[in-house]
Amino acid sequence: MTILVTGGRGAIARAVTAALIDAGQDVRVASREPSAVPSAVAYDAADPAPALQGISQVFLYSDASTAPAFVAAAEAAGVKQVVLLSSLSALDGPEDPHAKTERVITRGSYATTLLQPGAFMSNAKYWAHQVRATGQIRLPYLDAEEAPIHERDIAEAAVRVLLDGPGSGHDGRGYPMTGPESMTRRHQIEMVTAVTGVPIEAVDLTPDEARAEMRMRDEGQRETLLAYWASRVGAPAPIEPGVELLTGHTARSFTTWLTDNPGLFD
Ligand SMILES: NC(=O)c1ccc[n+]([C@@H]2O[C@H](COP(=O)([O-])OP(=O)(O)OC[C@H]3O[C@@H](n4cnc5c(N)ncnc54)[C@H](OP(=O)(O)O)[C@@H]3O)[C@@H](O)[C@H]2O)c1
Repeated sequence: MTILVTGGRGAIARAVTAALIDAGQDVRVASREPSAVPSAVAYDAADPAPALQGISQVFLYSDASTAPAFVAAAEAAGVKQVVLLSSLSALDGPEDPHAKTERVITRGSYATTLLQPGAFMSNAKYWAHQVRATGQIRLPYLDAEEAPIHERDIAEAAVRVLLDGPGSGHDGRGYPMTGPESMTRRHQIEMVTAVTGVPIEAVDLTPDEARAEMRMRDEGQRETLLAYWASRVGAPAPIEPGVELLTGHTARSFTTWLTDNPGLFD
């Protein structure tokens, strides 16, 4: 009974792997860059069959374009359970890329559970680069609200489902999950300063300034993000219960995340 953890370089995959090993599970870590991850095997999302040989359960990063190849290879390998790292955005409608992946992955002959987290607290790592370089965080829609989630909470939720295994009540379910409170991005930046002592100038960009500064190759994705943030101004983010349902504890706070990631902003 070996569990495959994809996305080996990711923070969530690393936490899932460590917790499964602690729980005495046989784990195979897979990455598109296996040399960057201790003991990892190569993972080619377009041809996942080699990584799936002898695997009974999978923690899967979402990718719409390669989902059909995953389903075929997982069925051929006799996989019994897949836990998909999806997104809360999958609930926005059928055109969302994560919704498309969910539709394909759930067609497989194995049990599927969908983890649907909102914005990650770890997105603040991108802010840290700006702070170290300029002392500023430059973002559009600073008053947009979100309820960011700690990556360890997502990982613990995934581990609960994998350890419970197929046939244990998680099959066919989706778990929307967020952090414990809705906060504006402006307030998150104030919290960074309060916890780390690093002074930060928050610069509220116009949408056009943001378009010029956002280094995103996919224009459609950029416009979707801008429209999403615009829609969140003055709209507190709903708090979703997935973390508490699966782990039995309340979701970790942003203060905890900042304390868990010391030295990022210095
Ligand atoms: N950031 C957010 O706020 C947020 C919120 C909700 C959902 N999500 C979703 O959560 C996932 C991870 O997000 P992130 O922000 O942590 O992204 P990221 O930093 O771009 O990626 C983290 C890890 O994802 C793995 N990965 C990426 N594409 C993959 C693929 N096609 N097949 C297998 N593994 C792949 C990579 O592992 P290797 O390179 O080691 O293979 C990488 O280490 C994404 O699907 C994202 O859409 C993100």
